[in-house]
Amino acid sequence: MKSTIVLSLLLFVSFNIYSQDDVEKRVTDLLSKMTLKEKIGQMAQYHLWSKGGEDNIKDDIKKGLVGSLLNAGDLKTKNDLQKIAVEESRLGIPLIYGRDVIHGYRTMFPIPLGQAASWNPALVQEAARIAAVEASSEGIKWTFAPMIDNARDPRWGRIAESCGEDVYLASKLAASMVKGFQGENLSDAESIAACAKHYVGYGAAEGGRDYNTTYIPEQLLREIYLPPFKSAVDAGVATLMSAFNDINGIPASGNDFTLNKVLRGEWNFDGFVVSDWSSVTEMITHGYAKDEYEAAMKSANAGVDMEMVSLSYADNLEKLIQDGLVSEEVVNTAAGNILRIKFRCGLFENPYTKEPKVSKLLTENHLAAAKQLAEQSIVMLKNNTVLPLSKKVKTIAVFGPLADSPEDQMGTWSPDGKKENTQTPLTSLKKSLEGIAEIKYLDVLENSRTIDKSKFEDAVKLAELSDVILLFLGEEAILSGEAHSRAFLNLPGAQDDLFETLSHAGKPIVVVIMAGRPLTFPNISERADAILYAWHPGTMGGPAIADILVGLTSPSGKLPVTFPRTVGQIPIYYSHKNTGRPPSENMLGIPIGTPLDPKGFVSNYLDVDFTPAYPFGYGLSYTKFEYSNLQMFPNEVKNKSSFSVSFDLNNIGDYEATEVVQLYVRDLYASVTRPVKELKRFERVTLKPGDKKTILFQLSTDDLSFINNEMLRVTEPGEFKLWVGGDSDCGLGTSFFITE
Ligand code: NOJ
Repeated sequence: MKSTIVLSLLLFVSFNIYSQDDVEKRVTDLLSKMTLKEKIGQMAQYHLWSKGGEDNIKDDIKKGLVGSLLNAGDLKTKNDLQKIAVEESRLGIPLIYGRDVIHGYRTMFPIPLGQAASWNPALVQEAARIAAVEASSEGIKWTFAPMIDNARDPRWGRIAESCGEDVYLASKLAASMVKGFQGENLSDAESIAACAKHYVGYGAAEGGRDYNTTYIPEQLLREIYLPPFKSAVDAGVATLMSAFNDINGIPASGNDFTLNKVLRGEWNFDGFVVSDWSSVTEMITHGYAKDEYEAAMKSANAGVDMEMVSLSYADNLEKLIQDGLVSEEVVNTAAGNILRIKFRCGLFENPYTKEPKVSKLLTENHLAAAKQLAEQSIVMLKNNTVLPLSKKVKTIAVFGPLADSPEDQMGTWSPDGKKENTQTPLTSLKKSLEGIAEIKYLDVLENSRTIDKSKFEDAVKLAELSDVILLFLGEEAILSGEAHSRAFLNLPGAQDDLFETLSHAGKPIVVVIMAGRPLTFPNISERADAILYAWHPGTMGGPAIADILVGLTSPSGKLPVTFPRTVGQIPIYYSHKNTGRPPSENMLGIPIGTPLDPKGFVSNYLDVDFTPAYPFGYGLSYTKFEYSNLQMFPNEVKNKSSFSVSFDLNNIGDYEATEVVQLYVRDLYASVTRPVKELKRFERVTLKPGDKKTILFQLSTDDLSFINNEMLRVTEPGEFKLWVGGDSDCGLGTSFFITE
């Protein structure tokens, strides 16, 4: 008996290390021993070039003036610097090492926008877990992810890092990513602290220009931009990053309302907030602070605990306290928040990382998961039956700048991915079709921006000798991501011309597009025989695409963002308001060029259809799914109660395949106008040909709530509509009422 108690105690101690009470006690104890300088030191995040280089950094670490480093070099450098912090600084407080582990570490998964296209929170969680296992093996204890900014503007380069345009989908994925990175227990050696970023509104940058101004009414902020962060906080995220943008005139890194009032006051977040890279001192450039002294004051008072890269806290906080402009309490709170996370991470017990005996990078399981997620992220936009490729296809002509471009298919933010580990479509197709079909490849365009057409003629000759043309088009990795916004969304370089030229070869053309954002490609949409949208699919993109092309798997990805027909339609998103003069179906078919007859005084353009090129949630399959028998129980729902929605999904085609079933609602009349559709549930359902499944969703009237004019979340009784289907344009619907 005694020994069981001892064993349980030991297990408790080793798995939980410390309870929350213990952590708080340790934070308080440690703070009581720290000098003001040491507390301010915890609030500084250096990189390897800070203060003129490593020697000075070492000195500062020894003096207890550094809380964290980002991008701190290889494992040995990290362990060496940690040794100084732990063994040579007065209180031995360990450093926390941060890095951008955004969509994988060495095993690169699809870019986050691609991951979102899988609509598979469980698999997205597994991807984050794998990234954590790999990154932690190289001494990283903190990732600057997930990026959960709502993104409704494909010109914005950072849409690639986002989960797309929808608040519900992004909130689900935010929680999955946090759980994946952090695991069951932050102190586990394979767990890393997550950082929900960029708090907040960063994706609303004017015109899609990165770092730009945002104006977001509080209602919209609370309904669209804040919920993914709330979901991350509820999932236990350890840290948040304050954004670069200014929100309604107040930069996010000095924003008392979003940081102190909402994050701490309303959500009780007890981790720490790190600024974005120099976003504290950039408040001077914004015109919100006159110098670093004032910038440090405004950020610290607003609740930014740690300053990334710029050193205005280190240089000014002591003086600000002396001058009475920042209270010592602010510094105690910030340092305490940082120490709390360091304790939870188990850094005081395990400050160093041992080189693993067997590498944890690129293991078979990791690569299999990366392939699976890449497969599920691929969205089929069109197929006139050319796919999957028939067994009769014996010669395949392969062209395009993304056919064999390992670096580009990894996408933005792949600092630790290596091109030599990446499998491209060209190499994968050759492998999987060996002895079955011949691949004829010509490197026609060197990269996505190449305009030299000198090899077009040779390409046509090759195409004429083939049974089918596979064209891999898109954007290089560097055309999306931070500071990589675009004003045009067409395929860059001579890619459209390449398609046009090859389309006259008299062969079926399959276009696979790899890109970091929705692009516009009207000619291809109309004339290609099939289109797959593969985003930047990561290390295992090649085998994933090959399996779909040859029919080993049916495509199952769905768009997490609306695809515009042209840049001029932006912003365009499915959950828009109806307006007083909405356009209707009979206004479709507007020719390009201003017609004489504007077809009514409605809210649309004269020269392009009001509908998008492809709606949110859209994606085709090799099979056909049929939705029927939609039912609600009860049909009149009492407010503050639950209800169920059920319907049948039938696979009426010839392939086993997965459908992402989606449920949308509309509140028809309310005290503030509501969007025409809002996603409320989704699920991936796999069915064999001929099989049927009844899907049941449980909802509550809280799911139909919104922020009213008093900024309160309410559900108002009245008439609602509900639809189920395979995209946001889905047709199977019913009406229902919520009563008092
Ligand atoms: C700036 C980016 O905005 C942010 O997302 C990133 O985490 C930091 N740099 C650190 O690299």
